Amino acid sequence: MKITIDNIEVEVQAQETLWQIANRLGKSIPSMCYAEGKKHMASCMVCMVKNAADGQMIPSCSTHPVEGMQILTDTADVQELRKMALELLLSDHRADCEAPCTTVCPKGLNVERVLWYYDTNRYSEAKRYIAAAFDLPTLGCDDCPKTPCEKVCRRGMVDKHVEIREIIREMSQAPDPSPQSEPLPKGRAKMFTSKLGHFSPKEKEWLKVSTDVPSNCLHCACAAQEVCKLRKLAEDCGIKSSRYGVSSDLPFKVKKHVVGRLWFEPAKCIRCGLCVYNTEDGFTFKGRGFGMQVVIPDESRSHVTEDIADLCPTGALYLED
Ligand code: SF4
Ligand code: SF4
Ligand code: SF4
Ligand code: FES
Repeated sequence: MKITIDNIEVEVQAQETLWQIANRLGKSIPSMCYAEGKKHMASCMVCMVKNAADGQMIPSCSTHPVEGMQILTDTADVQELRKMALELLLSDHRADCEAPCTTVCPKGLNVERVLWYYDTNRYSEAKRYIAAAFDLPTLGCDDCPKTPCEKVCRRGMVDKHVEIREIIREMSQAPDPSPQSEPLPKGRAKMFTSKLGHFSPKEKEWLKVSTDVPSNCLHCACAAQEVCKLRKLAEDCGIKSSRYGVSSDLPFKVKKHVVGRLWFEPAKCIRCGLCVYNTEDGFTFKGRGFGMQVVIPDESRSHVTEDIADLCPTGALYLED
């Protein structure tokens, strides 16, 4: 049979999906709950396209062609619908892509990374990183009187902000650094970052006792910030912040060990179901409607392997060293 995709006539097979046909023609349609060759159920609506023959919007990942379809993949209304779908996913997402201290540093320093070096007692690496970011021997943090990083530090919502300037000073002055053999990256240019919202009183109490590192840092940044599909698509769609606000009350940083190096952080799960449909007796859905969650029962953890992390489009499933 024949259909058109963006006004190009194409011969198609009935078992193909519109997403596959468009992909074959070199058109890139975004997707979140779909991964080629894997079991999936359409849920995210990020892959919507328009059939100009009847004016309907349809999910391309799960729709098969019908003779005479006139599919448009990139019109303004299609883009707007995809953007709305992403914003809805983000409204149920309680996480920061980058730590707020990092996003406000006027020097572009990845503050959270420096604090991670500090907490893992890696002063030499920290010193090399600070030197690369500040082009030492400039003054570094000393010529930044307002310390915006400390003002936005999320630890301040729990009890007291991390003493970022003091910690950076201490590390910059640490003796005997390793010689710098290669340039280290500076903090990146500003990118989309999802917003966490406020902590509940219960969460604050939990964070107080669960954070046990020398700096007191909560390490707000997401482990998947470089690879997350949700973040990349939000960036591509020009989303600055979701128009819907954060509705999820799943707790920040609560995570469950699954198997080996694999961890599950429910607040970052978009309930796409890829891990559910592609593990045998592993992940499962619990509840219905808006309250539905993905869970991993204790007795099912051994049925899961680490490679499921590659399928997760967000940082909900990730590997930790
Ligand atoms: S899962 Fe993606 S969108 Fe969410 S915090 Fe991590 S990087 Fe950002
Ligand atoms: S808690 Fe740590 S990562 Fe979070 S904003 Fe404060 S210093 Fe940055
Ligand atoms: S954990 Fe990841 S793969 Fe599983 S449903 Fe959530 S977002 Fe999808
Ligand atoms: S990718 Fe098609 S509905 Fe999610």
